[in-house]
Amino acid sequence: MRHESDFLVIGGGIAGLWFAIQAAEQGTVTLLAKKDVRESSTNYAQGGIAAVSSKEDSFEEHIKDTMIAGADLCNEEVVRTVISEGPSRIEELIRLGVQFTTRKNAPMNEFDLGLEGGHSKRRILHASDFTGREIIDKLFVIASEHPRIRFRDYHIAIDLFIHPRDRDLAPREKNCWGAYVLDIREDTVHSFVSPTTVLATGGTGKVYLYTSNPDIATGDGVAMAYRAGARVANMEFIQFHPTCLYHPKAKSFLISEAVRGEGGILRLQDGSSFMERYHPQGCLAPRDIVARAIDKELKKRGDDYVTLDITHRDPDFIRSRFPNIHRQCLSLGIDITQEPIPVVPAAHYTCGGVMVDACGQTDIQDLYAVGEVACTGLHGANRLASNSLLEALVFAQRAVDASLLRRKERNEPYPTLPHWTSGHAVDSDESIVVSHNWDEIRRLMSNYVSIFRSNKRLERAKRRIDALAGEIHQYYWDFLVTSDLIELRNLVLVADLIIASAMIRKESRGLHYNINYPITDDEMWKRDTIMWRGYR
Ligand code: FAD
Ligand code: SIN
Repeated sequence: MRHESDFLVIGGGIAGLWFAIQAAEQGTVTLLAKKDVRESSTNYAQGGIAAVSSKEDSFEEHIKDTMIAGADLCNEEVVRTVISEGPSRIEELIRLGVQFTTRKNAPMNEFDLGLEGGHSKRRILHASDFTGREIIDKLFVIASEHPRIRFRDYHIAIDLFIHPRDRDLAPREKNCWGAYVLDIREDTVHSFVSPTTVLATGGTGKVYLYTSNPDIATGDGVAMAYRAGARVANMEFIQFHPTCLYHPKAKSFLISEAVRGEGGILRLQDGSSFMERYHPQGCLAPRDIVARAIDKELKKRGDDYVTLDITHRDPDFIRSRFPNIHRQCLSLGIDITQEPIPVVPAAHYTCGGVMVDACGQTDIQDLYAVGEVACTGLHGANRLASNSLLEALVFAQRAVDASLLRRKERNEPYPTLPHWTSGHAVDSDESIVVSHNWDEIRRLMSNYVSIFRSNKRLERAKRRIDALAGEIHQYYWDFLVTSDLIELRNLVLVADLIIASAMIRKESRGLHYNINYPITDDEMWKRDTIMWRGYR
């Protein structure tokens, strides 16, 4: 079936919802989510949003912290834009009903500002330790009550529509006209046609076995854009969060960096602290440094985890500042007011992604990418904590503004596009193959393309991924699509892009550390790693 709308938004996290709400003032919006709309990384965000809001802080300091964390690879113009436009977006969020925690007994509803690694000032607005849920709850209600926004949950985009007549053109001369989408519950493929398509599909954490990310983070947007001919950049910079809960029954539960911001100390299993040996900022050093230090200590000692200890703070303070973390740990038998929390690093954030300009426009006309799927130039080689929700808001708004201008100057009728055909594909009775391949990709990425990389490990990973990609390609064309198969196809492509980018960069910088090239080489490598289809 064919569905038309003025805007097609693929993704219902902070970036997709923000775009949808703003764009709906001008036209009809279809918003797709491949599971329940609330199931997104945004929904699990804990620490908060970094933005300058206090008299003791300044744009220049936030800019400097972002650039230092980014290891000289941030685009300064983009950093300045995001940080200076951030406070206005926050004000709008508040106007839409988002409630950030205020300081007890402080005059004028002053915000309680959190501190996280790499920040020289307290500047993180938060809603206790469930900031993302507070944002999603408010934006979701507004969007679902809007008469011009139509939600389609359990709808997974398969590929973007590029008009057949444009297929051989350079990306900048191609137009995107929407996407083919599988209705997961009905098991049918539909055409969603629109003059403006927005990728807001989030990150790629599920390409690793150990991740803080929810199941939706399979890199679909990066894979679809790459297949359509857009450039992707900096995929080697995968951020590992230093502190995910280590517990056999905990699936991907994060222990916010804000815990360290409130005095939490990283300790070895013998109780000694160690971060002061690695960086003057100790436990609050930028994330790449903390994650590497933990990984090194674990390997040196053969331990499975380190601990994060906040037991020296008042139990009432801990319970009220971190109610979500306290409750979750307690449900697993860990009382964080009384005992240290076992933690390990896990894949958390994709700094690279689909390359966009200052308005979120990709290489392909009328295709925008906003939120974690995009590579805007803000994060460089390592994202500063809590800059991601901010980036999503600022770029989603910029993309709305740019797409509205473009709509005015463009007045083409919607084209006729080919229907989805399944050819000779048949129903697969081998779903076990999909789950085995999926598992193998995630294990090999965790073993060979993780915090410490080497030429040998990358080569090994590449050989295996090449073989898997061939198998999966064949499988994809032989069998009718399912959401698992669509995700597997994307996952193997994203893994390939991460490995290929890591092999290109022959230095260590920010989140990319190769033991064969331990030095940062500005002369050769102070540049983005860019890939596009046909490049290799
Ligand atoms: P998401 O919120 O991930 O939403 C992606 C959407 O795309 C989902 O609706 C999904 O269903 C949909 N989707 C994906 N593929 C398809 C497809 N093929 N078809 C249809 N729909 C699709 N950042 C901060 O700044 N501060 C924090 O405190 C913070 N804490 C975090 C805590 C955790 C546990 C995690 C995982 C991340 C955290 N981050 C934090 C990072 C931040 O939350 C994410 O980068 C951000 O929320 C991404 O938002 P998004 O809108 O781009 O994508
Ligand atoms: C956290 O709360 O530690 C996550 C913050 C982030 O990823 O920016």
